[in-house]
Amino acid sequence: MKKLQIILVLAVITLLVQCTSKPADTTADTNAVLDTTALKAAYETTVDNKPVQLYLLKNTGGVQVAITNFGGRVVALVVPDKNGVMTDITLGYDSLNHYRTRSETYFGALIGRYGNRIAKAKFSLNGKTYQLAANNGVNSLHGGPMGFHNQVWDAVQKDDRTLELSYVSKDGEEGYPGNLTVKVVYTLTDANELKIDYEATTDQATVVNLTNHAYFNLSGQGNATITDHMLTIYASKYSAVDTTLIPAGEPVGVEGTPFDFRVSKEIGKEIGANHIQIKNGLGYDHNFVLDKKQSGALEKAASVYAPSTGILMDVYTTEPAIQFYSGNFLDGKLVGKQQKAYGYRSAFCLETQHYPDAPNQPSFPSTTLEPGKKYQTTTIYQFGVQK
Ligand code: BGC
Repeated sequence: MKKLQIILVLAVITLLVQCTSKPADTTADTNAVLDTTALKAAYETTVDNKPVQLYLLKNTGGVQVAITNFGGRVVALVVPDKNGVMTDITLGYDSLNHYRTRSETYFGALIGRYGNRIAKAKFSLNGKTYQLAANNGVNSLHGGPMGFHNQVWDAVQKDDRTLELSYVSKDGEEGYPGNLTVKVVYTLTDANELKIDYEATTDQATVVNLTNHAYFNLSGQGNATITDHMLTIYASKYSAVDTTLIPAGEPVGVEGTPFDFRVSKEIGKEIGANHIQIKNGLGYDHNFVLDKKQSGALEKAASVYAPSTGILMDVYTTEPAIQFYSGNFLDGKLVGKQQKAYGYRSAFCLETQHYPDAPNQPSFPSTTLEPGKKYQTTTIYQFGVQK
């Protein structure tokens, strides 16, 4: 009798274990599930005597975002694919040290004080000329070598959905005028949105253009090229550029060019077209001017869909423009997360922004911030699936 009881109890336990382990099995994927203990350990250090850490956001849909306060970088972004497989869709490195030493320095980072390029690394404001570091040929790119991507931000994790980062960029830092006080809030919502709110104030007139430089591959980071992704950009105009990627005057129409993404099309469809702008950009590396219904309103800017995983990403922004970069400088030499070599065009960026070189091109929407005024923008990356 006792024997029978023991057998029964064992059978019930086995049944229970099987039942509870089922949901985990359907989402098991080595590329995806974040080993949060190991991850956190790889980021716990000090830089410039300031504490650096990794912060984790998660929602009820199982989306997980790992962000470090070194450069305010999104280190991992895990979303479910069409089969419920959790997939990390952002490129990056395995440890803080790699972010500081490897060749691509912008993965997932907050970019400032001025995202994108400023021609010949200088601009004038109120009659004074400011010299910046030329870190991209003769131009300045993404705020200079010690831009916001390489700074330690103060971080406050409000709850498991919200991370608040702040940074004071001193007058003269990287050549820019004015003490700029910046706040960026990352919020993960239950609608599978990663919302980024940017704010800044200054004590002297300056220029500001903040963005995030996530590199996405919706087939999963470290996987095949993104040329099969379907892309829509709600833009009738884009900035034609010179060979140093500085806008050559007023934006031009996309109609009849490889830059027409108003109707969803494969990124790879015309990426090799015999078109001067494709040549100058070595593919796509251009500013698209968004067809806003209302200037400054939060509106849909772009949509991307990867057929292999069914992952869909919609981008909403209050910004007037977006830089679409098709990963043309990735060449397979760079090793990223999980020892994956990042091949040519194995990621794309959609950087919401004001136009490149606006401080030198008065007809572009202004990027000047005056004391007493508040810089305020919002961008949302929303994730879903399409079967
Ligand atoms: C630029 C590219 C550059 C990349 C660096 C993009 O915003 O437009 O030209 O190579 O950033 O990660």
